[in-house]
Amino acid sequence: MPEDAAWTAGFWPGLLWLASAVKSDAELGAQAARLARLLEPRASDDRTHDLGFVFMPSCVLGAVISGNRRFHEMAWTAAGTLLHRFDGPGGYFRAWGDARSREHQGLTTIDALMNVAFVLWMGLARRDADAVGAARSHADRAIQNQVREDGSTAQVAVYDTRSGDFVRQGTHQGLSADSCWSRGQAWAIYGFALLARLSGDQTYSDAAARVADYFYRHLPADGLVPWDFADTGASQSIPDSSAMAIAAAGMLCLADARSDPAYRVCAERLLQRLIDHALVEDADNPAILGRGTFSLKLGIGVDEALIFGDFYFMDALARLLDQPFADYIRPAP
Ligand code: GLY
Ligand code: GLY
Repeated sequence: MPEDAAWTAGFWPGLLWLASAVKSDAELGAQAARLARLLEPRASDDRTHDLGFVFMPSCVLGAVISGNRRFHEMAWTAAGTLLHRFDGPGGYFRAWGDARSREHQGLTTIDALMNVAFVLWMGLARRDADAVGAARSHADRAIQNQVREDGSTAQVAVYDTRSGDFVRQGTHQGLSADSCWSRGQAWAIYGFALLARLSGDQTYSDAAARVADYFYRHLPADGLVPWDFADTGASQSIPDSSAMAIAAAGMLCLADARSDPAYRVCAERLLQRLIDHALVEDADNPAILGRGTFSLKLGIGVDEALIFGDFYFMDALARLLDQPFADYIRPAP
């Protein structure tokens, strides 16, 4: 993990913000604010697409809870930085590699939909037509090229670096190019639901519903989802609780975007499964959820506690309980 904690750096301040709001604890809020401010240099770092993951929990949520506009401004800067990563011919945000290098050129991921929703949030708030256009273009291409007929998703889309034409589906964290990595599916649910909530566009709401329905239909009879829905081999029983936490938060956002309480019921079921099968009961372990899988392929964080699983579990509970800050990635007033 790089020194700046890569895409996960915003989740601890995010958890502190949520705890400070629920408990009305000013000391926790001060700690969250101090950690969120440390992220400021990353707002102009265009070497990664992960800035939405970093700045939504730390600064977008932080601004809503604290009322401090400086956090909104940091988040706007970060979302503007992501525009450096927009590939004009292909109409998508590239995921990995320095924006000026050829390494990982032509690739994007399903995870990127969260970062794209962050760009749309900024574009609508600041009336930045380029940002809105880029976010919508990426989302449209993801629907065309990464959401399959059955509602499953491919983690990676490969585009021709000159023409921008779609070449093929692939994967980085999943089992195979034609499998469905469960956390990727969860990012698609939450990403499309946020895009729908922000834009009011039925296309994104329909895409979110298709990917959410696939996730729900593929829940095992009992217990947690596997790390990849297509895995029928020896690693089939390795779960990813974080995928369920992200999917639950996304389904609650989708229930609002579509005014459809059925997605609320689905989210409640996912949260109940997490409570029954993934809550950490060891008082010496500071995590909320265990049984997450960061990367089975790299052998990192397999069947472990993951900070983003904890963050999205709390995010989902805040949405379920209609907390005033729960809908923090709000449409522009
Ligand atoms: N897990 C690497 C990335 O999507 O940024
Ligand atoms: N890049 C986000 C993830 O690995 O889930």
